Amino acid sequence: MKCTVFGTGYLGATHAVGMAQLGHEVLGVDIDPGKIAKLTSGEIPFYEPELADLLRSNLAAGRLRFSTDYAAAADFADIHFLGVGTPQKKAEYGADLRHVHAVIDELVPRLSRPSVIVGKSTVPVGTATELSRRASCLASAGTDVEIAWNPEFLREASPCGTRCIRIGSWSACNPTPPGRRLRYGDVELFDLGRRSV
Ligand SMILES: NC(=O)c1ccc[n+]([C@@H]2O[C@H](COP(=O)([O-])OP(=O)(O)OC[C@H]3O[C@@H](n4cnc5c(N)ncnc54)[C@H](O)[C@@H]3O)[C@@H](O)[C@H]2O)c1
Repeated sequence: MKCTVFGTGYLGATHAVGMAQLGHEVLGVDIDPGKIAKLTSGEIPFYEPELADLLRSNLAAGRLRFSTDYAAAADFADIHFLGVGTPQKKAEYGADLRHVHAVIDELVPRLSRPSVIVGKSTVPVGTATELSRRASCLASAGTDVEIAWNPEFLREASPCGTRCIRIGSWSACNPTPPGRRLRYGDVELFDLGRRSV
């Protein structure tokens, strides 16, 4: 399967490497060219045991690339993981979703075939439904863009060994009954119900 990962920080870079290690073709996308250059040269910009070796072996195998190019990413795959930051708003308790919105706003108009965007960032309940509406307004006519969520539960300093079990649940925002299972390539997604994210 081909997939992209938007946001190649701690979560996104680890997810991109993990997916490549599982045998998928992965394009990691970030707006920070310095981060993209480092990852492309096999350097991890944060501490995570084992990850640099896995990054380098998957770069060498040609399964993993990094880019700042949204158009190339839209063209590359039909499934797009979203792992950008969602910091707390200044002086408020809410999450700042501006980076999540930026990915949807930049990516969706560039999609030209049915696609799934799978969020992994930590977001408030209701976000997937809101993004689904946002994506519908931005998608070109006849292009179905589905939003799902696969929240991340990353144990820092030990993600590599747990990678395989972390791709399992999602929350769709279409009105299907909870419990639906979907398969995208080798990735099985289990619908927990629309209101869980
Ligand atoms: N780090 C963890 O252990 C962990 C665990 C569980 C959940 N999360 C969640 O994962 C999300 C990301 O966390 P992180 O620690 O990886 O953050 P991070 O700050 O390390 O990485 C975020 C990345 O997103 C990039 N980015 C911002 N806007 C972008 C855009 N429009 N397009 C593409 N890339 C963009 C940034 O340049 C940065 O590289 C947050 O919602 C966080 O709560 C993190």
